[in-house]
Amino acid sequence: MDYSVVKGTHDIIQSEAEGYSNIENILIFNAKIAGFNEFRTPIIENSSLFVRSVGEGSDIVRKEMYTFKDKGDRDITLRPEMTAGVVRAMVNSKLFAQQDYPVKAYYIGPNFRYERPQAGRYRQFQQFGVESVGADSAIRDAEVILLGYNSLKMLGFSKIVLKINTLGDFESRIKYKTALVDYLSNHIDIMCDDCKERLKLNPLRILDCKVENDQKIVKDAPKLHDFLSNSSKSRFDELLEILKAQNVEFVIDESLVRGLDYYTGVVFEYSFTSINGVDVGALGGGGHYGNLVKELGGPELEGIGFAFGLERVASVLKDENLFKNEISIDAFIIPLDKKYFEKALTLASFLRVNGYSCEMNVESANINASFKKALRRNAKFAIIIGENEIKNDSVQVKNLSTKGQEEVLLSNLVEFFDRSLEDDHDHCCEENEEIEK
Ligand code: HAM
Repeated sequence: MDYSVVKGTHDIIQSEAEGYSNIENILIFNAKIAGFNEFRTPIIENSSLFVRSVGEGSDIVRKEMYTFKDKGDRDITLRPEMTAGVVRAMVNSKLFAQQDYPVKAYYIGPNFRYERPQAGRYRQFQQFGVESVGADSAIRDAEVILLGYNSLKMLGFSKIVLKINTLGDFESRIKYKTALVDYLSNHIDIMCDDCKERLKLNPLRILDCKVENDQKIVKDAPKLHDFLSNSSKSRFDELLEILKAQNVEFVIDESLVRGLDYYTGVVFEYSFTSINGVDVGALGGGGHYGNLVKELGGPELEGIGFAFGLERVASVLKDENLFKNEISIDAFIIPLDKKYFEKALTLASFLRVNGYSCEMNVESANINASFKKALRRNAKFAIIIGENEIKNDSVQVKNLSTKGQEEVLLSNLVEFFDRSLEDDHDHCCEENEEIEK
């Protein structure tokens, strides 16, 4: 029997899960204050959803989907990404008929791609993403790109590189594809097997092939930007001007085409190489989609969105010592005798209903063992219950960092914690203000 995790998947537990929660809280907070509402869509979808949206010719659909027949003979796929499901949900729920545009969604959850496991690449991974659908302007594009950029800054990254490109409108791309295929057909014999296949299915993907010899050939290929219509060009320039004015640092990367077929117009990726130089790939990526809503049965509306890979964000934060995963509690209750164990439970319950986190040692009444446990649990205070305290309706409270100790009446205990831990909170806010400056 094999009870190890499935290849390409991993457990996220305890303090690591705490670190992930901290990342998620910041991302969710930023999305909410920018007017995005949460969408929770199913992990299983009809396979046709992804074939239609992500694209028959994409690597994801051709090679990476977890697809199976269910007992009703339906063709089902574990979602490889979340944009398609979220836009499907918007269409199915007729949100475009009922709400102001853009309809703004954020989402978080697991995705599945049968890829070769390597640094930053899992078969089950989590994404956080947003979609803004129904308003088509450079300002709305910029709003979404900025949200991702500023969220990464809030997580502590100082030097994010935003790679940006435009794929132009449909007509520009058709013209470009013809020129590109003409050029590549003369070199394809000496290119990699993947490129040979992409030439038939998705020639633009050849532009971001990582094989060195192929990159040399691609360098001299016709440039997409020479085929852009005037309106595509001016829309892209307008967006770049807005991003500049918002102090977003970006590099135009003409080889950035992204692996999902629904993109039209601007595409972008957020990247960051950590101090130790490990490149886990893009932290996140996204782009504008002109036809997806209509293809999924909705009105003719455009949208834009991005998704971060949480494993990649966490991995780079760890390398930079920015991964905040400390688990601490406000208090650890130490009864000095077995007969006070029930009192400890009453006190724990009282503190918890008042919003303070606490644990207790009711496994032994050994004071040394209890203090060691309190330190291992990262408690801020130890609360000691002994004979005197029971007599006085009080407890001894010891600050585990300053080592100061005082007797506190039970009737004053909540007020004591409000005061002591409020100082903690003020201190943490001052730190945040420092970072903001
Ligand atoms: P994507 O570039 O395929 O775009 O994925 C977004 C992010 O998910 C990547 O930048 C990466 O951080 C993470 N990711 C992808 N595959 C893996 C993997 N195998 N292991 C770990 N992390 C991974 C999308 O999925 C689009 N739906 C983004 C979007 C939203 N476009 C418009 N709206």
